[in-house]
Amino acid sequence: MGQTFPAPKTGEVPFKVTHPKRIPAQRYYDQTFSELERELLWPRVWQMACRLEEIPEVGDWVEYKNLDKSVIVVRTKAGVKAFHNACRHRGVKLADGHGSCEVQGFQCPFHGWRWSIDGENTFVFGRHLFDQEDLDPTEIDLKPCRVEFWGGCAFINFDDHASPLLETLKPVADALDPRHADKLRVEWWSSAILPTNWKLAMEAFMEGYHVMRTHPQLQAVNLPLPGYDRYSAPPDATGPSLGSLTTRKLVEMFIQYNAVLSEGMAGMVHANDVAIMNDLKDKVQLADDPQVGFMQWYGLLNEEITKCNRARGVDFPDLNTTPLASPVQFVFPHYFLLPMFGNMASYRIRPLTAETCLFEIWSLVLYPEGEARPRPTAPAPIGHDDPRFPPIPQQDYSNLPRQQEGLHAGGFEYMRLTPKVEGMISNYQRVIDGFLGGVDQATLTNGLVLASGGFDAPVKDIGF
Ligand code: FES
Ligand SMILES: [Fe+2]
Repeated sequence: MGQTFPAPKTGEVPFKVTHPKRIPAQRYYDQTFSELERELLWPRVWQMACRLEEIPEVGDWVEYKNLDKSVIVVRTKAGVKAFHNACRHRGVKLADGHGSCEVQGFQCPFHGWRWSIDGENTFVFGRHLFDQEDLDPTEIDLKPCRVEFWGGCAFINFDDHASPLLETLKPVADALDPRHADKLRVEWWSSAILPTNWKLAMEAFMEGYHVMRTHPQLQAVNLPLPGYDRYSAPPDATGPSLGSLTTRKLVEMFIQYNAVLSEGMAGMVHANDVAIMNDLKDKVQLADDPQVGFMQWYGLLNEEITKCNRARGVDFPDLNTTPLASPVQFVFPHYFLLPMFGNMASYRIRPLTAETCLFEIWSLVLYPEGEARPRPTAPAPIGHDDPRFPPIPQQDYSNLPRQQEGLHAGGFEYMRLTPKVEGMISNYQRVIDGFLGGVDQATLTNGLVLASGGFDAPVKDIGF
């Protein structure tokens, strides 16, 4: 049942990244490039198709659509399965959106053929009208699509020869499994259509270099600790130096930073976590030395957040023994998670055309075990400048249409990246060239692993 893809022409990828620090502008708007991605990239990668909590009961199904392909993901008694979303008679799409079908299964609206939720054909109207060879189950059962699972989500892949999902996203699983990524549940889910190439939207989250100008409210309370203030601030945005701060002041800044982040993201750092910080700050004795005192604070806070959540019945990781995870974790090509304490935000960005994309954000929370949560359903997209979006995504969105416009300007040939912290953009773009240029599966898989995780990553040797 292996699918065949058009033969790529090695070395003939248009607008190929030939210098790892320079990304040609046309990759973000050229129609041919976009068509090549549709033919050679999207059908061969693992795509986050749905959260499993979207289909909690046997018979629940959801459609996942990307460009010209649509898949049904359905929960059956034998587990979650995926099928290509087309009637085996004359190709009518079977399912739209989401629904439940345990009793009736799927029915084609054209001539009424039917299937069980396991994809077996159960009814052909006027069966005697067809030749026997066209009624063989291999001809009329729904076509299965590869589906594998990680982090509470179903991922689909049209390529039967692609490496297993967990091999390709190993660094992300290693970082987020100890944080119980599979137990997160949706707090809220929103979406927007952006007049922006999908890669541009992804790349807005691959570095913290933009925080200084795009999110000045975060920069203003950024901690002057090694590892926090990684970029030298411009003269008009210089904060206090570490030497001038007391432990108490550092703790206050830390709480303020997290409060701004929590409010700005409407999640990620949950309001509960900020409340715990505020409650704890006056109860603890900390060393006067700001570096020592701050580390004590961080340990005590992790302990308290862990304790409070466990007391509420949450299966919560021990934040003091769980390795610190990079704050943005990319799952190639179009999904990423932002873990903070016990919760996360997550994003998925699908191309609609060469210069538009569908941008989704989820706030994900670890709830007490057994707490009933509503079945999440895909939201209708709202305008990217809609004030209902939390302030930080609004700030990120505000740059993207302007960047898309700027890329068309005469004289702009390529982006110039810092190889130290904008390397993920280059790593990603070169992996895409690997798919378009016919690089072999094993080398591509290695490239996928190197392009996983990776916020503020350097340019890497991805093996081709
Ligand atoms: S196209 Fe579906 S039953 Fe004919
Ligand atoms: Fe941002």
